[in-house]
Amino acid sequence: MSRPSVLFVCLGNICRSPLAEAAFRAEAMRIGLEVKVDSAGTGDWHVGQPPDRRAQATALRNGVDISGYRGRQVTPEDFRRFTHIVAQDRDNLSNLMRMRPRDAIAELSLMLEHAGRPGESVADPYYGDEEDFDVTWWDVTRAAEGLARRLSIRD
Ligand code: 4NP
Repeated sequence: MSRPSVLFVCLGNICRSPLAEAAFRAEAMRIGLEVKVDSAGTGDWHVGQPPDRRAQATALRNGVDISGYRGRQVTPEDFRRFTHIVAQDRDNLSNLMRMRPRDAIAELSLMLEHAGRPGESVADPYYGDEEDFDVTWWDVTRAAEGLARRLSIRD
């Protein structure tokens, strides 16, 4: 099968999906998985902006610098360019299903499915505090490990 490519999606692309992207990049590198990775938001409020300061701090505490990431919005083209699109919550997933073009190739999934928690959403830490961002990091890391493992054993 061709090289996999994964797009992580949340609402604003400044908290959860950049952390998911960071955790997955780190895990893919750790296990030697060659994969294209990006993240995007269903909303457009933070296009061109760096991740939320608290998300940057959380990633840095865990050894990853995400200060260079910039927000962008999901496009129909993403469904043809990525093999996997991973929604952080159920609202993101239903929005993605609605905008999915007929010739999409991307497989849609919910992030925590890959952590053995089907149907669960990664909680939005935007209105929370540092501890909420730690929970987000924990959740996206467990899911990133599961997804990376799955992609590394497929043919
Ligand atoms: P994210 O969090 O979807 O995890 O990036 C949010 C960021 C911004 C907003 C909501 C959620 N907002 O309403 O601007």
